Amino acid sequence: MTSVAWNALNDHLGDIQNQQLRDLFAAQKNRYQQFHLEFEGGLLDYSKNRINQVTLDNLFALASEAKLELWRERLFNGDNINHTEQRAVLHTALRDPRPNSRQSLVLKELDHMQQMVERFSQKKWLGCSNKPMKEVVVIGIGGSYLGPKLACEALQTFAQKDVRIHYISNVDAHEMHEVLEIIEPTETLFIVISKSFTTQETSTNMHSCMRWLEEKTGDPSAIQKQFVGITADTALAQKAGISADNILSMWDWVGGRYSLWSTVSLPLALLIGMDHFRQLLAGAYAMDEHFRTQELRENAPVLMALIGIWNRNFLNLPAYAVLPYDYRLRSLPRYMQQLDMESNGKNIDRKGQPCRHQTAPILLGEAGTNGQHAFHQLLHQGTTVVPCDFIGFRETTYSQEHHQILLSNMLAQSQAMMTGRSLEESTAMLEANNASDIDLLAGAMSFQGNRPSNTLLFEKLTPNSLGRLLALYEHKVFVQGIIWNINSFDQMGVELGKTLGDKILHDLKNQSVDGPFDSSTAALLDYLIKRND
Ligand code: F6P
Repeated sequence: MTSVAWNALNDHLGDIQNQQLRDLFAAQKNRYQQFHLEFEGGLLDYSKNRINQVTLDNLFALASEAKLELWRERLFNGDNINHTEQRAVLHTALRDPRPNSRQSLVLKELDHMQQMVERFSQKKWLGCSNKPMKEVVVIGIGGSYLGPKLACEALQTFAQKDVRIHYISNVDAHEMHEVLEIIEPTETLFIVISKSFTTQETSTNMHSCMRWLEEKTGDPSAIQKQFVGITADTALAQKAGISADNILSMWDWVGGRYSLWSTVSLPLALLIGMDHFRQLLAGAYAMDEHFRTQELRENAPVLMALIGIWNRNFLNLPAYAVLPYDYRLRSLPRYMQQLDMESNGKNIDRKGQPCRHQTAPILLGEAGTNGQHAFHQLLHQGTTVVPCDFIGFRETTYSQEHHQILLSNMLAQSQAMMTGRSLEESTAMLEANNASDIDLLAGAMSFQGNRPSNTLLFEKLTPNSLGRLLALYEHKVFVQGIIWNINSFDQMGVELGKTLGDKILHDLKNQSVDGPFDSSTAALLDYLIKRND
């Protein structure tokens, strides 16, 4: 990419590359004051990034060159900014309590969802044997799985009753059988979530579960009573045998990876109740308002996005880690992988031309402290520098003792990544301990440091703060898509594999390699077919 601001950032790079973060902290006593933002309900510390005020000024110039504020308006106005699919992008309307063009649709579905939640929690949802539903199996994949799973895990402490929720996402039948083996057929509600209702994995799992339920109960009416469909194509759900009363709608103006705020969250509402679900929406709306109204310099998603651009496009860092120091957010990294990489993992710009700049980084992550005993070695000493987002909560539900250990680990990780440990410091430490082999060990025990990170802190993990956190990341991804001039809201990259898979499946079913395939694919297929003889 070339533009005045882009070139200015490239020119400025030399200044930053010669500086170490630990020296910047030593020289600027108020560095934290300068580079942190408190917003309602949370705090973003971005001081441990390789930036100075000039970096930020140039990044804001880049945002203004990309007309970010105009795009932000277009997003909230419901313009067809998903231009390849000619669709508006209005997940924000799902959480907007003010009158808006989609409100009557949204409220109608929320009412229906509420009735379902009441029926379930009052034990009035009876299955084919007239027993109330106790367990829930969610069938869905991608955005129709990752969001509900993340939210149900994150908010388990808000569970109103003991509802066991199981998930079947992969088409690998091992996953399905693990679930089917432990549930009671007459007391289980199956919730099929699929915006398109054509996704191969979901459709296969749904039909297999329907057959299983019919077989186990010996009652064909079980499907009508015990299956729910959540989809934008309600006709297809009915065609599959789901009762019209048990179908909730969603819409084409809500992308799959942005659908947590819709009826897709029925499993969550069954677990925590509608009031808590509405608090999740309220938290997300609060972040929408922050993003929509705050000027760019005081805007958490904008700051995080621009720093991400600096790391990716100028410091040339190809990866990025999301590290929640909270077990309840253990699925956040996977959720973020879809949100970030399916949205911005693209090499074609909005005009259909190849991008001449890097786009989304490779995202990884794990709940702290587990990651520390796995890939953090690379984060501290690897040859690839990976910027990190640390996420923590001041309050916890259970033991203070554990929580203090958890939080001390989080702060120590970002501090270690920033300061590192020089050769001289390692040597001095070894000498003080009267170690042998100092020459060998001092090198191995030194850390370059200078590794960037953000820290996001919230008071407590609640439906409201979860809403804020997830909406913050949604808007961050949106801003980066605007700067990179890509459409963050389609996902053409998943299509080719699906199309090629159909032909391979056809040959696998026929047990004959008819192709046409390249020699590698043909030989692999041949191997798989022969082994079935
Ligand atoms: O992976 C492609 C994708 O379309 C995702 O964007 C989506 O979340 C997932 O498949 C599931 O789609 P559906 O909800 O239509 O089953």
